[in-house]
Amino acid sequence: MLTFLWKFSVFYFFIIWALFNYVNPEDNLDIPTIAKYFNTKGRYEEVNPYLREDILAVNRSILQPPSPQCQEIHLIAIIRHGTRYPTTKNIKDMQQLYNIVMHNASGEASFLREIQTQWAMWYTEDMDGRLVQKGVNELKHLAVRLSKLFPSLVSEENLRGGRVKFITSSKHRCVNSTLSFKAGLTELWAIKDQEFDHEVNDALMRFFDKCARIVQEVDNSPLALVEINNFKKGPEMRRVQEKIAVRLRVSYSLITHDMAEAAFYLCAYEFAIKAVNSPWCQLFDEDDAKVMEYASDLREFWKRGYGYDINSKSSCILFHDVFSRLNKAASENKSGQQVTEAVTVQVGHADTLLPLLTLLGFFKDSEALTSTNYATQTQRSFRTSHMLPYAANLLLVLYDCGAGDLRLQPLLNERPVTFPGLADQQVSMPLYEDVKEHYRELLQGCDFENECQLFKHPA
Ligand SMILES: *[C@@H]1O[C@H](CO)[C@@H](O)[C@H](O)[C@H]1NC(C)=O
Ligand SMILES: *[C@@H]1O[C@H](CO)[C@@H](O)[C@H](O)[C@H]1NC(C)=O
Ligand SMILES: *[C@@H]1O[C@H](CO)[C@@H](O)[C@H](O)[C@H]1NC(C)=O
Ligand SMILES: *[C@@H]1O[C@H](CO)[C@@H](O)[C@H](O)[C@H]1NC(C)=O
Repeated sequence: MLTFLWKFSVFYFFIIWALFNYVNPEDNLDIPTIAKYFNTKGRYEEVNPYLREDILAVNRSILQPPSPQCQEIHLIAIIRHGTRYPTTKNIKDMQQLYNIVMHNASGEASFLREIQTQWAMWYTEDMDGRLVQKGVNELKHLAVRLSKLFPSLVSEENLRGGRVKFITSSKHRCVNSTLSFKAGLTELWAIKDQEFDHEVNDALMRFFDKCARIVQEVDNSPLALVEINNFKKGPEMRRVQEKIAVRLRVSYSLITHDMAEAAFYLCAYEFAIKAVNSPWCQLFDEDDAKVMEYASDLREFWKRGYGYDINSKSSCILFHDVFSRLNKAASENKSGQQVTEAVTVQVGHADTLLPLLTLLGFFKDSEALTSTNYATQTQRSFRTSHMLPYAANLLLVLYDCGAGDLRLQPLLNERPVTFPGLADQQVSMPLYEDVKEHYRELLQGCDFENECQLFKHPA
């Protein structure tokens, strides 16, 4: 009898053990295999996978000033808002695709039955791009990581002393991201007796909206976006649409480019917002995802990247603002004063960061991205999935290494990068003087008013 009971319980123990082990490995499968192709809808953790283990992890040894006496004197952090809901236009397309899947799809695949029986459309148009809870957390966590990475700058003393300045775009998702960043710091230091202001400044953080030339000659010009539209109608995209139609068993005509994009967004948003690998992701294999990624990169390239000169020039105002802050900190330090601003936190959009990164020369390939060179662009450096996930950030850290030896270290998404074309700076961080020399033409020109006015005369 006892042996029987023993065997019985061992048997059940084994069953329970097996169940747990079945569930646990599946948690790791919760990351869609196509998650690294989500462009500006991607998670920050896909760019920095070590954060999946520990969201507050930092590695201070990535910063290698040329000598131990170097001290940080100013930090500029230009940060994209955190994870947000889709925009109204995207939600309308998602609803339309959902209706097609519910009413017209007749495939037998299990992912399809899962959508039809277990997945409910929960996105509503009033969500229109608002920051989600995940986005709140991203900015809080980023604030804590920056305080660990730059403890002498992002410090309680500097915050309380008013030496940390916050500037934000007026969009609710940016204001909320700014509030979240501040909350990350006040919660970290348990500050309850003091509040910290932020300045709303669209001229600086939404310059792309204020630049008449970019609005008229790029955003509202169908001709300017011809490469994007041609790729949408091209053979690579058509193949993706056909494969989706086959997987759903619906007529090809129902899966337009917009419907393929809606499916891709559904997979991306379910993952970004809820951290689930949703059945929508099964509509794409990796080859399809690469085509979708390229279509989106193409759009960013022509609308905010190297496609047109005005795209980067629209950020002249932010470019000058950055260097005047660095100059101010440098000269205050030089003249023996305490630096009045230790940290500038500026919260904006992907559309804020991309023109500035482009102006500075980052991620420039030898060939332009076009509708016909998808195949030869597989190794391109211009990849918004790597550059611009939610909470993407460009950090500029000014160091004083003694005797007027100032250095400037740029980091993108918390990884050191080198200023493109600035020779001989692969080993250590460049001299601030050399950086200014490198961008001399822009520092002397690059006038927002002049660049952005319509009917500009050729220089
Ligand atoms: C930290 O960064 C350094 C330099 O890049 C690297 O060698 C080291 O392995 C990193 N440490 C951890 C724990 O990631
Ligand atoms: C899709 O389903 C709707 C609703 O049942 C129907 O009206 C429509 O004709 C179908 N379209 C196609 C192309 O089958
Ligand atoms: C964002 O800010 C608005 C207005 O201050 C507030 O109503 C909303 O709850 C905030 N959302 C989040 C996610 O913090
Ligand atoms: C200038 O910066 C250096 C390096 O941080 C620091 O040692 C020095 O005290 C600063 N000077 C002033 C006046 O703050």
